[in-house]
Amino acid sequence: MEIVLSGIRSTGHLHLGNYYGALRNYIKMQDNYNCYFFIADLHSLTTHPHPDSLHSGVRTILAEYLASGLDPEKSAIFVQSDVPEISELYVLLNMISYKGELERTASFKDKVRQNPDNVNAGLLTYPVLMAADILIHKANLVPVGKDQEQHLEAARVLARRFNNMYNTSLFPEPKAFNFGGDLIKVPGLDGSGKMGKSEGNGIYLVDDQKTIKKKVMRAVTDSGPTAPNSPMTEPITNLFTLLKIVSAPSTVAHFTESYYNCTIRYGDLKKQLAEDICKQTLPIKAKIEEIYNDEAYLRKVVERGTEMARESAQATMKEVRRAVGFKSFLKLDD
Ligand code: TRP
Repeated sequence: MEIVLSGIRSTGHLHLGNYYGALRNYIKMQDNYNCYFFIADLHSLTTHPHPDSLHSGVRTILAEYLASGLDPEKSAIFVQSDVPEISELYVLLNMISYKGELERTASFKDKVRQNPDNVNAGLLTYPVLMAADILIHKANLVPVGKDQEQHLEAARVLARRFNNMYNTSLFPEPKAFNFGGDLIKVPGLDGSGKMGKSEGNGIYLVDDQKTIKKKVMRAVTDSGPTAPNSPMTEPITNLFTLLKIVSAPSTVAHFTESYYNCTIRYGDLKKQLAEDICKQTLPIKAKIEEIYNDEAYLRKVVERGTEMARESAQATMKEVRRAVGFKSFLKLDD
């Protein structure tokens, strides 16, 4: 069975971008693959969260994972920092990662631009830690949104480089995966770019009906089509992209037609969009609250997931250590 792995950083709440870009694929893959899904709390340290809030961030994503439909009976669900083998592999992969290639990563350049006062080495080597997450389980498929494509390429480069350097075929080359074929980019409500936790343009799975409506009604538009068949501007294209994700094809067809014959009223489009988003997210919201407070259940889920993840990680690290040439004085029979 092919091995699937993916994770999301424990910063803030999950939004529609996470849900449609990644989580929905996780949920569909659970039945047919050997799945590992985790919460990337080490990755969240690049922005120095306060120690008092680190754990609640992890718990939030865990509850949101489970409420969205991740099933601990089918998948190994765990927290990155509970699997120390990942950090060990990260150290080894850092030795074959080059400053130049890391500096060329688009996400790194974005962060440098956004936060010039916090260009730490963890940010630079973010793709190396992500490669460790993936390679430690020898994952073949990684369900992620379009923004992660370059990181996946980095993981393939490292897998190949390690295999060549140590003359082994230990690591398979992981591929990004989406059921629809193309990776998905969910746009934000501010007229341009992707929906993101740090962009402040998102709709969250925990948002209530009123909040969702308010956010959608405030989404950026333009002054409307003035001639039949005019091309759509970016904010309008984005609203239609969201509509295609959450609404029925007949709804999409209706508004597309009314756009091109200039009878569209953006207010109606937004109202429908808000309603269809609510239909998808409100049932999840109700479950999040219930699960978040069930400490015993959360512990059980993570205990089971960690056990499976560590078993797989330890098996890989044993091979990795041998390939690199470690031979411990402490374990004479190994
Ligand atoms: N970089 C991913 C994101 O920002 C999170 C992540 C960390 C990840 N490690 C991973 C995703 C391994 C897939 C596989 O969403």
